[in-house]
Amino acid sequence: MNASPRPELPESAVTVTSVTKHYGVTQALAGVDIAFRRGAITAVVGANGSGKTTLLKVIAGLLRPTSGRVQGPDGRELQGLTSAQESGVVLVPQEPTLAGHLSVWQNVSLGRPEAARGPFVNDRAARELAARRISGLLPPDVLERTTSSLSKSSRQLVQLAAAMAKEPLVLMLDEPTAVLDEDGVVALHALIRGFVGAGGTVVIVSHRLRDVLELADDVVVLRNGLVSHAGPVTADTEHHVVRLLSAEERASRPQHRPDRGHVVLQARDLRGWRGLSVDDFAVHAGEIVGIAGQSGSGRSRLAAVLAGAYAAGGEVSVEGQKVRLGSIRSAQAAGICYIPEDRQVNAILGNQSVAANLLVGREDPELHNGPFRNRPAEKAESEILMERFEVRPPDPDRLAALLSGGNQQKLVVGRALSRPAKVVVADEPTQGVDASARGAIHAALASAAAAGRAVVAVCSDFEELFEISDRIVVLRDGQIVLDQPRKHVTQDEVLAASLGSHLPVADPGRHVSEAHPS
Ligand SMILES: Nc1ncnc2c1ncn2[C@@H]1O[C@H](COP(=O)(O)OP(=O)(O)OP(=O)(O)O)[C@@H](O)[C@H]1O
Ligand SMILES: [Mg+2]
Repeated sequence: MNASPRPELPESAVTVTSVTKHYGVTQALAGVDIAFRRGAITAVVGANGSGKTTLLKVIAGLLRPTSGRVQGPDGRELQGLTSAQESGVVLVPQEPTLAGHLSVWQNVSLGRPEAARGPFVNDRAARELAARRISGLLPPDVLERTTSSLSKSSRQLVQLAAAMAKEPLVLMLDEPTAVLDEDGVVALHALIRGFVGAGGTVVIVSHRLRDVLELADDVVVLRNGLVSHAGPVTADTEHHVVRLLSAEERASRPQHRPDRGHVVLQARDLRGWRGLSVDDFAVHAGEIVGIAGQSGSGRSRLAAVLAGAYAAGGEVSVEGQKVRLGSIRSAQAAGICYIPEDRQVNAILGNQSVAANLLVGREDPELHNGPFRNRPAEKAESEILMERFEVRPPDPDRLAALLSGGNQQKLVVGRALSRPAKVVVADEPTQGVDASARGAIHAALASAAAAGRAVVAVCSDFEELFEISDRIVVLRDGQIVLDQPRKHVTQDEVLAASLGSHLPVADPGRHVSEAHPS
């Protein structure tokens, strides 16, 4: 460590020098040199598995680098979690770390000295602290709710409030917008701008173009564990980044055409939790219906009910065959496959291999030798799926938990879209996935439609919604408020319908939960 006093603060808030990180034989970081400008917003972008999360975790002291060093805001070397925390470096991780069984106020105030009285929690001070921190992000009535009862979007905002309660100097955010809806993104951007305006430094990892072009001052591109580009966001870099962050293989997407005469999925008189109230919703063979709406509007709820993951009143049928509501098994038997919003809780088998995750429950005779598994066939099949959905690294034996976030999402999607089904219900299928794999997932949805399946996709990203949908349905307060062929609506109309008379941040009440009741 440098013992001589520093006359001035260094211009960069965090400096990373020659950092490498190996996980066994995998080299996640291959010698990263980068300085994050003090008082600036830096976006870190790059393909799934390029090392973004690893870099942030090394800086935050959650991972020890194999070699190299990191200096914090006061120029001192950061050596692990404690010294990062003491230096004011705080990470909001890609996968949620909140204590689900605790209330929102408990999570936000956890470990804060101002919320403590000696060894005990001062409930009143803790509640006040939490209330201050969630203001502008979430409505005050969520404070008492159990965190696990909130939607993924709301939980992300709680996580952000908890990070802000630590009063960071450097706030690092790993894909915070992957599941945020319009309100959430607006609130997050506002919070970040305010924080930077007050002298803070922000590093944000994102696959969304908007976070780079509308928010960031600087951009860093990672590629195979190395910095391949770093500099201010200018018209010049814009071109570069746009190419990196937008899916380009549109041409190769299978053509499909809805068959209006053939209703595959029919829902009637759905009545569910928090006012879900859908009288008539039908999806035709070969049709992709995109579902939009704010968090709390019932969009995930509708998807969960259609997929049998959540009980409701009413009726759902697939080609005339009734589905028992609230029974995933019955929905599956009727030919509905479901990609849930929350991969950590509902989909990824972390302690099993990539191949097991892709093939779980597959009963195709080709994958079996009589009662036994046919390992070579399983290996071949998982290789095809890894290739198609761009799972990196393409190692069927690797534990799923060791894949990067975007690659875990590819497993969930690859598993669902590779089964025979009549209906695909996908809730945010491309969350956290890079542009190239996003293109592959869009292509897989299109090919499901081309094969005559009915596809329902909940989509909080408008660009994507308009890119993939044949028809757009907007939910608000549990009801369908717009249902139009894509060609007949504009993004502004969809936004207006989803907000109703509300303005984006003026009514944070839109963030309350939908998918998981308490
Ligand atoms: N715990 C681990 N054990 C082994 N390999 C790992 C582990 N965590 C990450 N990796 C590997 O390190 C590489 C970088 O992963 P990282 O999570 O940093 O990527 P990322 O850029 O954040 O990707 P994404 O956009 O998908 O979140 C990947 O090849 C990944 O499979
Ligand atoms: Mg990551």
